[in-house]
Amino acid sequence: MKRLEKKHPLAIRWFHWINFPVLMVMIWSGLLIYWANDVYGVRIGSRSLFQFFPDAFYKKFNLESRLAEGMAWHFLFMWIFAINGLLYVIYTAVSGEWRHLLPNRNTLREAWQVVLHDLRIRRQPLPRRKFNGAQQIAYTSVIVMGLGSLLTGLAIYKPIQFAWLTAFLNGGVLGVTGYNAARFLHFWLTVGYCLFFLIHVAQVARAGWNNFRAMITGYEVVQVEGDAPQPTRTAKASGDAVSPATPEAGAA
Ligand code: HEM
Repeated sequence: MKRLEKKHPLAIRWFHWINFPVLMVMIWSGLLIYWANDVYGVRIGSRSLFQFFPDAFYKKFNLESRLAEGMAWHFLFMWIFAINGLLYVIYTAVSGEWRHLLPNRNTLREAWQVVLHDLRIRRQPLPRRKFNGAQQIAYTSVIVMGLGSLLTGLAIYKPIQFAWLTAFLNGGVLGVTGYNAARFLHFWLTVGYCLFFLIHVAQVARAGWNNFRAMITGYEVVQVEGDAPQPTRTAKASGDAVSPATPEAGAA
């Protein structure tokens, strides 16, 4: 027998789907800004061996000579990104949703099982919970990355007003300090989002329609045996019994 089970609260779905286009605008406008001073690449002395984005890339995607426009979009959407992210974190903390999300002492072992399962080395089904260990690590990391982008962004945006923040980064990253370290981290965090995005979307596609639809409607279809009452996700959040969710749920 099949039935609907609540999976994602309305607030989380709003925060998630607002974050997606906002992050896209942030990355696109960030590229418009980066074009003006594209410092990252591999150099020996004054000779450039490899440029992170070749000129043809900027030309193809029409990213050239649009610095002012890039700054205008970036400095507007950063507020939406920050407020949406902050509300998401507050809601997750207050509602108890963090119990599904934050890694615990079983997470690493379970994440390894997920890797083996995805590589088809492990045959046993994965634990049937809202988020498995690999998801807990990925989602928690991307939230920490969001905070990192905000802090490093502020350090670059207003290095005088936020001098304490820039100074905080003075420990140095790969030999660069202060403002340059903030810029370096800000750039690589963005590369991190792109990698997260590719893996996340591939896993969502792999997990299937039921899992994706739950992030829109809030409900997923679960297979239940007989009419016996099943534990709800709220019960699971407080550490109770095993979930009746379908095997593909929680694989994204
Ligand atoms: C086309 C783009 C995207 C799609 C289709 C998508 C889809 C999904 C789905 C289906 C889930 C639920 C996974 C499950 O229940 O097993 C999810 C959760 C999540 N996604 Fe995405 N996502 C997208 C973009 C993003 C982006 C850009 C980010 C952040 C950089 C992100 C971060 C997250 C996080 C943190 C969660 C966990 C949310 C929670 O329950 O607290 N997603 N996503």
